[in-house]
Amino acid sequence: MRLLLPHLLLPALGIAAPSPVPQNPLGPDVKSTMLRFGCSQLVIDRIDPLVNPGAIPSPHLHQIAGGNAFNASMPHDTDISTLADCTTCSFSEDLSNYWTANLYFRARNGSYKRVPQIPVHSFGNLFNDDFTHASNAGFVVYYVSEKPGDVTAFRPGFRMFTGDANSREKRGEGFKNQTCFRCYTGPDFEGDIMAPCADPVLDYEGLPDRPCYGIRSNVLYPTCWDGKNLDSPDHKSHVAYPITGPHTFTALGTGGKCPESHPVRIPQLMLEIVWDTSGFNDPNEWPEDGSQPFVLSTGDTTGYGQHGDYVFGWKGDSLQRAMDRSCFGALCHELKSQSVEEAAKCRVPVRAEEEVDGWLDSLPGMPEVYQKK
Ligand SMILES: *[C@@H]1O[C@H](CO)[C@@H](O)[C@H](O)[C@H]1NC(C)=O
Ligand SMILES: *[C@@H]1O[C@H](CO)[C@@H](O)[C@H](O)[C@H]1NC(C)=O
Ligand SMILES: *[C@@H]1O[C@H](CO)[C@@H](O)[C@H](O)[C@H]1NC(C)=O
Repeated sequence: MRLLLPHLLLPALGIAAPSPVPQNPLGPDVKSTMLRFGCSQLVIDRIDPLVNPGAIPSPHLHQIAGGNAFNASMPHDTDISTLADCTTCSFSEDLSNYWTANLYFRARNGSYKRVPQIPVHSFGNLFNDDFTHASNAGFVVYYVSEKPGDVTAFRPGFRMFTGDANSREKRGEGFKNQTCFRCYTGPDFEGDIMAPCADPVLDYEGLPDRPCYGIRSNVLYPTCWDGKNLDSPDHKSHVAYPITGPHTFTALGTGGKCPESHPVRIPQLMLEIVWDTSGFNDPNEWPEDGSQPFVLSTGDTTGYGQHGDYVFGWKGDSLQRAMDRSCFGALCHELKSQSVEEAAKCRVPVRAEEEVDGWLDSLPGMPEVYQKK
């Protein structure tokens, strides 16, 4: 297999390609921490304990990964890691939950089909990780810190939201650093060279307006915290991006100075999702007006409304300990891991039963908005 360079890092570091997969491909002097690990899909469901607590169903569909404490509402005042007893993530002490929108294809006749997810590129197993490239849908989750001791891990009860599910407007470069879509130009992840959101040609702020072999979504959460509140009414104001705005992702950086109002640096959390769009590239099924046919489960045909939810649930001080070491990829001796098979046993029941796969007449939860033409 072709060995692609760890694009996340090398341009920033200016170092040569790693020789036979060392423990940390960046070399012994590199102290940044970059946890990068797979979390298989826990469930696809129309509930949202952060934005619509208690609602069954909530307005739109999500795919969820992480611990089995996930439910229509999740108590603020309880440590989630004590409620969950399993997780779909490769690090078995991570009982957090992560969720975002699903992607659908809309055919010319107005029927919808959910686009399948596939694991991310393995880079020739550079990350020495048997889980992430074999996971069942879900996310790749990243936690990054510039150097050991640089970030304060989230506390029990912490939760946050990034993006704006209702946004349908282009907001420019800064926003593209926060959420972007990579267009793979070939069946073997061609186009996976630059850091997420940093490719001027293959990264789009919205859904790519051309056929791709796969579309990868990256969602970068804020890296600054007010140091006090575990949540806020909009689930955003207790956290902030650096004063220079969201920065594209490198393993070297959580990028930029925090504002005075939010002085505490927290790990750079990033989600990565890959949809296999290769089965939906028949030009005869694309809209006749030249627009692209994909739509997020929020009814968003632009992609500008891509967003991410997070409920922290690492056990004890495990995340802080990991961030305080130079852990890389899914290799972290501070943390316990599990196999993809073990993770697959972690399930939660679907609470809002409805058809989400197969050809659908409308998107789950929004018949009035996106009915057949
Ligand atoms: C999930 O929430 C429902 C109420 O909405 C409750 O009956 C059920 O026990 C909860 N399940 C778990 C596993 O917490
Ligand atoms: C709509 O088009 C798709 C793709 O051609 C097809 O598979 C599906 O059966 C059609 N649905 C209906 C209701 O005609
Ligand atoms: C996006 O991120 C890059 C790299 O971190 C940074 O140089 C650039 O200023 C950011 N763009 C904006 C508009 O903030």
